[in-house]
Amino acid sequence: EITPVILAGGSGTRLWPLSRKSYPKQFVPLLGDTTLFQSVARRLSGAAENFSFGQPLILTNSLFRFIVAEQLAKENIDPAAILIEPDGRNTAPAILAAALHLAARNPDAVMLVAPSDHVVPDVAAFHQAVGKGLDAALAGDLVTFGISPTRPETGYGYLQAQSRPDGSGAPIKLASFVEKPDLARAEEMLATGDYLWNAGIFLFAAKDLIAAFEQHAPSILSAVRAAVEQAESDLGFLRLAAEPWGKAESVAIDYAIMERADNLSVVPFDAEWSDLGGWDAVWSHSQPDGNGVALSGGATALDCRDTLLRSESEGLEIVGLGLSNIVAVAMNDAVLIADKARTQDVKLAVEALQRKG
Ligand code: GDD
Ligand code: MG
Repeated sequence: EITPVILAGGSGTRLWPLSRKSYPKQFVPLLGDTTLFQSVARRLSGAAENFSFGQPLILTNSLFRFIVAEQLAKENIDPAAILIEPDGRNTAPAILAAALHLAARNPDAVMLVAPSDHVVPDVAAFHQAVGKGLDAALAGDLVTFGISPTRPETGYGYLQAQSRPDGSGAPIKLASFVEKPDLARAEEMLATGDYLWNAGIFLFAAKDLIAAFEQHAPSILSAVRAAVEQAESDLGFLRLAAEPWGKAESVAIDYAIMERADNLSVVPFDAEWSDLGGWDAVWSHSQPDGNGVALSGGATALDCRDTLLRSESEGLEIVGLGLSNIVAVAMNDAVLIADKARTQDVKLAVEALQRKG
């Protein structure tokens, strides 16, 4: 049995104005009528060929706890626990808290850690990849999933396997892990053909992750261990203790552990995978027509190309005329109109609004 561990604490500012601080992108129906959080909870449930998923552990914060509970209920998924982080300290402390919580019940527990901002349409292929990684995880490896890179993306981690994938999908030992390289380094790695992108999904035994923290980040381990030991139940949620939690360094697992550990392997994942990080990605997943136009809500396009028009407000009509490469998203209280090539900069817009107060 594999325990799903779902990270649902991020704020997703690049998808403003649909994604809000109090209601971020993973909980909003971005594509179709299920949310990304619901899809990952569903994807990590049920039985596959050589394993089955147990009840999930969710990591989130106070603000989102009821949204999490409600969306799980909609999927008829009963969580093992919903852990509440007193404040966001990035993924290293969060994932470690899940491992300690699980290990206290079963040190051999195997966990599959997944973010809640991804689109992975082929669930069968995904389950198969997880199944391929299982033996390596049982043998003590921290297993990553590798995507064939298509551009010198600087927002991802890069995985260097010790040998080329042979097409079998079997796990390969990693030679190195490079998190968020600068552009020159990303271009270099892409050119060698030896690197895969890190999908941000991890499979390992709880005790092996704890051992990795013992070796590479012992101060995070002692803080998080105390926060888990002193956690308090609160209306069916498990609230980590704020005082020790505040002592854990705020850092991503990729830097704290993955770049340092030498017991990593990668399962190549060939099916579609995408990080719905910005409006350009939402546009390309919204089934644009032959002219590249994607519409939702009350939206009409005349002579437009490569454009996304979304009205999220009941009765509010949005009409595009002669537009090209534009993203327009209208809410009740805010409208974004952006050059589609600049959608990664939407967080600048959010910052500008915050400065205005
Ligand atoms: N519960 C919780 N608490 N979740 C968090 C926190 C936190 O403090 N911080 C981030 N998350 C969640 C985010 O919501 C997201 O679902 C996931 O953890 C990963 O965090 P991101 O901040 O989105 O990471 P990233 O996209 O920059 O990089 C990671 O993912 C890439 C692939 O999408 C890395 O693993 C990269 O190596 C990887 O390529
Ligand atoms: Mg991400």
